[in-house]
Amino acid sequence: MDPIKILFDEHDIILDAIQTAKNLRKIIHKQETYAQQVFALISFFRAYADKYHHYKEEEVLFPEMAKANEMLESGVIQEMLENHEDFRELIREIEMLTKNLLLDEAQEKLEQYVEALTDHIAVENDEVFEIAKTLFSEKEMEKLYFRFKDLDAELGDKRKTELTQQLLLIKKSIEMLG
Ligand SMILES: [Fe+2]
Ligand SMILES: [Fe+2]
Repeated sequence: MDPIKILFDEHDIILDAIQTAKNLRKIIHKQETYAQQVFALISFFRAYADKYHHYKEEEVLFPEMAKANEMLESGVIQEMLENHEDFRELIREIEMLTKNLLLDEAQEKLEQYVEALTDHIAVENDEVFEIAKTLFSEKEMEKLYFRFKDLDAELGDKRKTELTQQLLLIKKSIEMLG
C-alpha cells in the first residue's frame, strides 16, 4: 500500500505518452491523420495526466506535504502547481494550433510541452516524492494510498484502464503510418 508507487507508475505511463507525442512528427505530412492523433493524445493528457494524476498531487499529496512542512508550500510545491497550470495552457494552445491546421507550430508546441512535462516528472520523482517519503508515517502513507484509490474510483477505475489502452492504440497507429 504505497501511495508514492501509484504516482511513479502513473509517471511511467505519462512518459510513454510523451514518447508518443515526439513520434507524432513522423506522420506530420499526413495532415488529417496527424490532427486526429494529436486530438487523441490531447484527450489522453487531459484525462489521464491531468485528471487522474495531477488531481492526486493537487488534492491530496501537496496539501498534506504543506501541512507537514510549511516551508514546502512556497517552495517546490508552488513550483509544481504552477507547472500544472502552464501544462493546461500549453494543451489549449496545441489544440488551437491543430484546429487551425498550423501543424508545424502544433508539433513544436507539443514538443515544448512534453519537454517541460519530462522535467516536471524528474523533479517529482527525484525530489518531491523523496521528501514525501520522509514526511509521513506508515499510517499516514496508508491513508494517502486509500485517498488516491478513492479519487480513481470517483473518476472511474475502468476508464483509467481504457485510457492506457487508447494510448496503446495511438502508438500503434503512428507506428503503422510512420
Ligand atoms: Fe505534478
Ligand atoms: Fe506527477
